[in-house]
Amino acid sequence: MDILDCITKKRDGGALSRREIDEMIRGITEGEVPDYQTAAFLMAVYFRGMTDQETFLLTDAMRRSGDTMDLSDIPGLKVDKHSTGGVGDKATLAAGPLAAALGVPVAKMSGRGLGFSGGTIDKLEAIPGFRTRLGEEEFREQVRRIGIAVTGQTGNLTPADKKIYALRDVTGTVENRSLIASSIMSKKLASGSDAVLLDVKCGSGAFMKDLGEARELARLMVAIGRSAGRKMAALITDMDQPLGLAVGNALEVREAIDTLRGSGPADFTELVLELTGAMAFLGGRAPDAETGRKMAGQALAEGQGLKKLQEMILAQGGDVRVTEDPSLLPEAACALPVRAEEEGFVNRIDAMAVGEVSRDTGAGRRMKDEEIDLSAGVLLRRKRGDRVRKGQELAVLFGSDASRLAELAPSLRRAFSITETAPAPVPMVLDRV
Ligand code: URA
Repeated sequence: MDILDCITKKRDGGALSRREIDEMIRGITEGEVPDYQTAAFLMAVYFRGMTDQETFLLTDAMRRSGDTMDLSDIPGLKVDKHSTGGVGDKATLAAGPLAAALGVPVAKMSGRGLGFSGGTIDKLEAIPGFRTRLGEEEFREQVRRIGIAVTGQTGNLTPADKKIYALRDVTGTVENRSLIASSIMSKKLASGSDAVLLDVKCGSGAFMKDLGEARELARLMVAIGRSAGRKMAALITDMDQPLGLAVGNALEVREAIDTLRGSGPADFTELVLELTGAMAFLGGRAPDAETGRKMAGQALAEGQGLKKLQEMILAQGGDVRVTEDPSLLPEAACALPVRAEEEGFVNRIDAMAVGEVSRDTGAGRRMKDEEIDLSAGVLLRRKRGDRVRKGQELAVLFGSDASRLAELAPSLRRAFSITETAPAPVPMVLDRV
């Protein structure tokens, strides 16, 4: 079969068959299809879209492109949770242990951050000694023993996605529903959990800027998972302002610990309880997500989530004392407050802009494999709806280079829009699929 025929068929709006998609993905994985043809194919998909059936086939071909994980020897319904990516999203660090405390086995493979959105693996590496590269057997054994393990990818999972994602990143073809859904779901299906909870972010700090688009992406991913025999649910959640107050690796670990102690920011705590409730339902520990949420609230109040996080840190070689003494986490050499220049209410905090500023403090990367500063980032002092007086702190910048922080301060100030009246409150969970 000629790859050029697949490209022209898609360019002209045709629907590809299973054989054509399988052949395309096999050729990309094995390096037979040159990058320029893959890029042309991706651009054709970007403009023409794919039917649901083509997206299912693409996901399945990508899932089969490498190793797949078999978790069937771990008792119970293993539940994975995936966020489509946002600013300040440290939910796995809190909802993972809380769900595990409710008896839901959590076997989670996570990634590093790229661009404005952070990655769970970078955050965990802010804990001194914490190992994020578990071998497959160790990963499985830890889930069996303590109910949770979070690792960077083990084995050669979905190599087709790695190649395709790297090309999408540099050809302007990331923001396509079928490409996003197949990329995320091929990895979720390959990593072997029985159920997947999707946290589809919506707003200025997310791929999906409006609720309609987010709903469509959620619907498509849920349908892909169900067609592959997995239990699925999706929450569509607000990402129009950063999640919680902390953006940056060590800062976010600290906030996750505070939250598991019951003293986290209200919006983040709310999200953690909702996610944990839905995971408890998917894992068969609660009759419905609402009961699951109540159970999560109770477990949080009893400190069970913190205890489970401590067990996980110990199991993965990290310094568990950070949960009692956060000053053991990396601390930035420089801090610079950013103050309001006018009085009023915080009407909007542009999440993407905060994410970009945080990245530029050193907390994130522009290029894959770039070194990051685990202590750097942004701590918000005000959130949407808060009142602020002229001269009061809006946020604090952290990093190792004071002059760099001074350069970033105006962009961070511009991320806040201050108005005379308070904005209407926005719920954390915008919809459920
Ligand atoms: N996360 C992924 O893994 N893939 C995408 O395409 C977008 C977000």
